[in-house]
Amino acid sequence: MRKLVHRPRRLRRSEGVRNLVRETKLTAHDFVLPLFVSEKIRERQAIASMPGVFQLALAEVADEAQRAHDLGLQAVLLFGIPREKDEAASGASAENGIVQQAVRAIKGKCPGLVVMTDVCLCEYMSHGHCGVTRVDGDHFHVLNDESVELLVKTAVSHAAAGADFVAPSDMMDGRIGAIREALDANGFQDTGIMSYAAKFASAFYGPFREAAESPPQFGDRRSYQMDCANAQEALREVALDIEEGADIVLVKPALPYLDILWRVRERFGKPTAVYHVSGEFAMVKAGAEKGCFEERAAVLEIMTSLKRGGADLIVTYWARELAEWTRQ
Ligand code: PBG
Repeated sequence: MRKLVHRPRRLRRSEGVRNLVRETKLTAHDFVLPLFVSEKIRERQAIASMPGVFQLALAEVADEAQRAHDLGLQAVLLFGIPREKDEAASGASAENGIVQQAVRAIKGKCPGLVVMTDVCLCEYMSHGHCGVTRVDGDHFHVLNDESVELLVKTAVSHAAAGADFVAPSDMMDGRIGAIREALDANGFQDTGIMSYAAKFASAFYGPFREAAESPPQFGDRRSYQMDCANAQEALREVALDIEEGADIVLVKPALPYLDILWRVRERFGKPTAVYHVSGEFAMVKAGAEKGCFEERAAVLEIMTSLKRGGADLIVTYWARELAEWTRQ
């Protein structure tokens, strides 16, 4: 028999050896659970395209958050669905807006849980865009600086309600710096910013738009979200957000952008998050339902890949299940 010096399979011989040499391990602390809270409902409503994900009523959001914390999760990311939408996204920054009330309820019940809030205007704008729009004939523009003003007000109102981190997901230019300045000026030096720094215009947000009732009523988001073809531009976007004061930078979606995630983590060394988005979730659910693969194995493989690929933090609709699946 041929003598082999190297037999890498020695390190795969048994469960015990594999456990000893495993490089990437998942724990409940890696995951952030998105929660949708709606001002329009009195009890939870299923979201058709996202099996097992619900819109919650305000009255139940604190219990839901407490349950997540009890499972070992450290953070939730809140999205609000207001009763009324308008052209100025008034609900986004209202002191008694749905997210502001939800933050207070969660912090009242479960002060140790890290509460992050999505800062965006699309759920609150009657037209569903992430900023202020101006229509010129058959063209429409999303106005940058006017939008940033509203985003700043929204972020400050979330901080005032007690959010630990605000998470701007709109992709307007300069919003991180403007939000940092306003938070500091209002005494919220300790409120962090998790910036959706490299957010791509993606086909995979479809189910979310049903969950958050936020599809654009005309046009698309390609004048503000990034072109999926561009990696260098993503690095420039991340660099700007870090210069402007982002504490955590986020790449979104997840699996199709592993290369971006890796480069962002390697180049900047900042806490780096990734958002495994609704369409990615729905795809795996559909595959599992058809019997193509087992859901749990597929999800664990994807999450391990994201962490191996540079994610310190993973936003995922499977956070609760993962907290259980990764318990030793
Ligand atoms: C809002 C926002 C979106 C998502 C998170 N924040 C949708 C969008 O940009 O259209 C998507 C999340 C998901 O698909 O799970 N701006």
